[in-house]
Amino acid sequence: MFRLAVPRLAALCCARRAYSTPGKVKVCVTTQDGTQAEFEAPVGVNLMTAVRDVAQLEMQGACDGCMVCGTCHVYLSKAWYEKVPEADDDELDILDKSLEVQDTSRLACQINLTSDMDGIEVTLPKKVANLMM
Ligand code: FES
Repeated sequence: MFRLAVPRLAALCCARRAYSTPGKVKVCVTTQDGTQAEFEAPVGVNLMTAVRDVAQLEMQGACDGCMVCGTCHVYLSKAWYEKVPEADDDELDILDKSLEVQDTSRLACQINLTSDMDGIEVTLPKKVANLMM
């Protein structure tokens, strides 16, 4: 009897190959409790809107992208931190006041998703501070 070898499908979030729908990019998120989630978001929306509104994951985005609250603080993977456009001085000022900042910290509302960001990897901090309060 012959036995066919069936390749195992990768069930992990974001295998290194991106495969999203045209006009959308795949976003890979590690949530506060370590759960990995992946979803597709339209090109042109910012990363905060993608995480909060498209995927409906836990992200406050209290100022709705006006860059005053800091509640959209995320950590990018090192590789993606180097690929996305750099933070400007205003964003860095908000990050300076944020909790548990790391070398790859960014404000998700300041990252507009482009077609070359397919497979972007993001981790949500366990704690964020709302700087408007
Ligand atoms: S949503 Fe408020 S700083 Fe990004």
